[in-house]
Amino acid sequence: MPWNRKHLLTIEEIRLDEIDQVHATAAAFKKILGRSVKKVPALRGKTIVNLFLEPSTRTRMAFDMAAKRLSADVISFDAATSSTTKGETLRDTAKNIQALNADMIVIRHAAAGSPLYLSRILDIPVINAGDGAHEHPTQGLLDTFTMKEHLGDLKGRKVVILGDILFSRVARSNIHALTKMGAAVTLVGPSTLVPHWFTALGVTVSHDLKSALADAEVVMLLRIQHERQASSHFPSLGEYTSMFGLNQARAAWLNPKAIIMHPGPINRGVEIDSELADGKRSVILEQVANGIAVRMAVLYLCSGGSPELAIAGAE
Ligand code: CP
Repeated sequence: MPWNRKHLLTIEEIRLDEIDQVHATAAAFKKILGRSVKKVPALRGKTIVNLFLEPSTRTRMAFDMAAKRLSADVISFDAATSSTTKGETLRDTAKNIQALNADMIVIRHAAAGSPLYLSRILDIPVINAGDGAHEHPTQGLLDTFTMKEHLGDLKGRKVVILGDILFSRVARSNIHALTKMGAAVTLVGPSTLVPHWFTALGVTVSHDLKSALADAEVVMLLRIQHERQASSHFPSLGEYTSMFGLNQARAAWLNPKAIIMHPGPINRGVEIDSELADGKRSVILEQVANGIAVRMAVLYLCSGGSPELAIAGAE
């Protein structure tokens, strides 16, 4: 089916064939990013506003770069010096950005549902760059794109997501993407951060790190998201690390071919040791690099571009 989605709000709502179209389009753009001239005119004349109301390094810079590689004009909203500090609402800020003739808004916000809200009050496409603990769809798309580069078809592949699942939008987007793609997903961590009710999403929940790691082909680490936790969900960071941190000794339980992933930012020495984060099995910086091509694909498709044209242009 052709891509006819104007917004990208969640992975939960998109179909497997749409995930495949993003991945195929991203693969085409990735070829272009490997050329000496890394730019295409696909979004020439369009203006994209990055409305980030929560901190970001990777997502914001990758969206910025993706838009520039597509020849769009990009405006990065600076929350600290904006009129939001004078009490302006999200609605008014977004309506003003639209009145200034922006063609698309990429939003990151601490409140779950903010992108959906903007999609209902604006006429222009809205892309979710992370909303609270709800979803981070482009992260799920770039993570599964990276897994496919290493493993091929993800059907039946064993993926372990380890850490603070409860407060993680990355976990939710990956769970939706991976289960649609037929992967076998196991969530691991303390029961306070990995409650049993996640099984309703079609995944396995485990609190036994050793047995979960034994047959994993991918292990994705997540940091503890203190900024979303009103109270502590474990006695201390040291105790969390001693029970669930990935270190060299525990990595020996993994299949030697298993890859190690992390969406970033990493808290070294807490959820993962530095030697593993920087080691041969780590694909963490590949994830970051793939974030550009995947976000180019999302911006392009939501602006009405066709995957076939992108693929033909990369040949
Ligand atoms: N993975 C991710 O969302 O990183 P940033 O918060 O730096 O964008």
